[in-house]
Amino acid sequence: MSAAIEFTLNGRPCRADAPGHWTILDLLRDGLALLGTKDGCGEGVCGACTVLLDGEPVRACLVLAAQLAGRTLLTIEGVGADAPDPLQDAFAALGAVQCGFCTPGMILAARALLAANPAPDEHEVREALAGNLCRCTGYVKIIEAVMVTAGEIARCASPRSS
Ligand code: FES
Ligand code: FES
Repeated sequence: MSAAIEFTLNGRPCRADAPGHWTILDLLRDGLALLGTKDGCGEGVCGACTVLLDGEPVRACLVLAAQLAGRTLLTIEGVGADAPDPLQDAFAALGAVQCGFCTPGMILAARALLAANPAPDEHEVREALAGNLCRCTGYVKIIEAVMVTAGEIARCASPRSS
């Protein structure tokens, strides 16, 4: 049996029908044809399905769609929709994207980190992304991209920046 769920999706009101057993990942990919959120392991291990629920990273494959009611969801489709996000620019410029399968989840996990801690050290970046697996890059470029983005945010926030 399906039920209507009302929530905010990428800054806009959304009303969607979902069977009771659907996860957020099912709703995004099968119900709303939003394919940017990746289905990797389907059991909470790889982080490819990471989305931000009320600003917090969650694994979309583990959370029921019904839990979206009245809440705010950000997916990769809502990141850089108007202009490229600094994280996306840094990932592209520094070669932090190879096959790209892990990238949406990485970007969203990194966004949550930088929102909570705009000046993380490398250890904090590694810790924040520890649950997001990448088979291609060896992580070095990904960590570098997040650090570079944090540095740019700090420069822009500095009163002495010109
Ligand atoms: S698909 Fe959700 S954690 Fe792997
Ligand atoms: S770029 Fe291929 S899994 Fe990360």
